[in-house]
Amino acid sequence: GAEAYAEAFDAAVAADERIEPRDWMPGDYRATLVRQMAQHAHSEIIGMQPEANWITRAPSLRRKAILMAKVQDEAGHGLYLYSATETLGASRDDLLDKLHSGRQKYSSIFNYPTLTWADVGAIGWLVDGAAITNQVPLCRCSYGPYARAMVRICKEESFHQRQGYELLLALSRGTDAQHAMAQDAVDRWWWPSLMMFGPPDDESAHSARSMAWKIKRHSNDELRQRFVDICVPQAEALGLTLPDPDLRWNEERGHHDFGPIDWEEFREVLRGNGPCNDQRITQRRQAHEEGAWVREAAAAYAAKHTDRLHG
Ligand code: 3HC
Repeated sequence: GAEAYAEAFDAAVAADERIEPRDWMPGDYRATLVRQMAQHAHSEIIGMQPEANWITRAPSLRRKAILMAKVQDEAGHGLYLYSATETLGASRDDLLDKLHSGRQKYSSIFNYPTLTWADVGAIGWLVDGAAITNQVPLCRCSYGPYARAMVRICKEESFHQRQGYELLLALSRGTDAQHAMAQDAVDRWWWPSLMMFGPPDDESAHSARSMAWKIKRHSNDELRQRFVDICVPQAEALGLTLPDPDLRWNEERGHHDFGPIDWEEFREVLRGNGPCNDQRITQRRQAHEEGAWVREAAAAYAAKHTDRLHG
């Protein structure tokens, strides 16, 4: 009966085994995976916009080639994650409709503008760095297709993080104006990067169940703290300061204390009132409309091809 399936599911999760698409799973488990994986995919797709803004204005051919490769990787991560979400019975068209109509989210971080070239470095170092801190544990997520997608994506994110760090190092060691540009970018991207990890644990709607199901392996605050501890020595090596006067090493905690996060800003961005929310969604809808002919052509070809196959 149904309880036998539920027991088998619970035993598999308890034993750190993977749940695969054909396995029985609780409806809520499926629903929270579709929610998280779809929004993860949406984040990758929207995340192409801030950086694409600088592809035509990169300062050298080398930097242009690196940035193009990174943006193409983000597209691939999005498509990879939409495919993983489809293994749960979700339809890509429906997920995109939900994104375009605001019924599904994408990461708050992409609602901030990229004002100078140094922002490309700050995004690589901080945003992709935060993504790695969040995604490495997801390689151990109980749902097989998501965990396996994360293994591949984390490898590419490491390249994204290294190129951003190296870009900032070049600027930081450059002229005074270049150093100031790098510092300004870090000042603008630091706090929004900490918000990527989600609301504080005691305000997190999904954490308890997500952790019980071994989807989320560490809490929002735990991963945020881990990220801060990673960034402090890296900022020192970059010769840049982090914009938090309360940041200091706490010996007995074995972690860095840091200042308060502006959760009202976070809530405003999630309500759609961030600096670039309208621009990002408008550009996404336009890209979707302009790409309709490609989808129609592919569908027509598939239909013709299938007829030939099945006569
Ligand atoms: N931006 C937008 N929405 C956010 C958010 C953020 N930074 N943090 C939390 N939220 C939303 C949640 O989606 C949830 O809303 P919902 O019910 O409508 O989905 C609500 O706020 C409550 O947050 P919870 O902590 O309860 O939600 P989760 O348990 O889902 O935890 C999360 C949030 C840690 C982001 C988790 O969903 C997660 O780990 N997602 C996978 C990682 C991901 O999406 N990363 C995107 C970063 S960008 C990226 O990866 C691209 C890279 O190449 C730079």
